[in-house]
Amino acid sequence: MLLPTETVYGLGADAADPAAVAAIFEAKGRPRFNPLIAHVHDAETAARIAAFDDRALALAAAFWPGPLTIVAPIRDPAAVCDLARAGLDTVAIRVPGHPLSRAVLAAFGGPVVAPSANRSGRPSPTTFADAFAETGDKAAAALDGGPCQVGLESTVVAVLDGPVRLLRPGAVTRAQLEAVVGPLAPADDDARRSPGRLALHYAPDAPVRIDAPEPRPGEAFLAFGPWPAGEAVLNLSPAGDLAEAAANLFAFLRAADRLNPTAIAVAPIPDEGLGEAINDRLRRAAGFVG
Ligand code: TXA
Ligand code: MG
Repeated sequence: MLLPTETVYGLGADAADPAAVAAIFEAKGRPRFNPLIAHVHDAETAARIAAFDDRALALAAAFWPGPLTIVAPIRDPAAVCDLARAGLDTVAIRVPGHPLSRAVLAAFGGPVVAPSANRSGRPSPTTFADAFAETGDKAAAALDGGPCQVGLESTVVAVLDGPVRLLRPGAVTRAQLEAVVGPLAPADDDARRSPGRLALHYAPDAPVRIDAPEPRPGEAFLAFGPWPAGEAVLNLSPAGDLAEAAANLFAFLRAADRLNPTAIAVAPIPDEGLGEAINDRLRRAAGFVG
């Protein structure tokens, strides 16, 4: 089922049913070693499925429902099948904030795995039309929840042994996390620890050129802050607002792609707050991994 969340559209299936989960991997062309996020209605359900320590409980209380995914040891392996976890003894779990996904989760009762509804390696869909174009033909049902408010995938943290580790920056910022659990693990090799984060990702068809002060002839340009309007110019946020830029990012990468440019040049984005997540996605779209 195509399912709107506050971050991006997901392609959802019963987390306990290996055949349904296999169909999700198939529809996305996703490698089987890349585990899925289980979505549940509330923190109590999450804590039955995963082993939450005090830090995980504090993060859940602070940010759920909302764009945070917590990776914790699996407690009920049947609830989120082996295939969904890619055989790991941990599970990624989140309580989404969008009213439509909340209604589905309440009605269904159990956990629903939902990767972003793009085909593997492509930008995540943030509108119903983009989601439908990516994997709509593979879904038994599709829910139109309008454009996604956040526009970037959830922040993923691992709450295991040692300090909490940021596996994927997202709408919940490093500073917000640290306000709840104290200093996070050093950033050194974070990216390598989340199995799905190794390959080229979030990529449109055109090459992406980041930190571009201005476009070259033939390029589309994603501007940030004041910039003169132009034929192939899309402004992520004329006001220089990071939340607005995050919400526009994936839809604008797709729109720029449709212009058939030689490349998509993207203006420098400040690396603070939400900018960390935006720059993470841009580096990956540009093919710089890690
Ligand atoms: O905002 C979101 O999180 C969206 C919406 C639909 O909820 N979903 C999403 O799912 O982005 P997906 O499958 O595209 O990304 C899941 C990420 C991957 O990077 C995956 O490797 C990581 O979470 N992940 C899942 N289980 C994990 C685990 N046990 N340990 C470490 N990383 C895990
Ligand atoms: Mg994804």
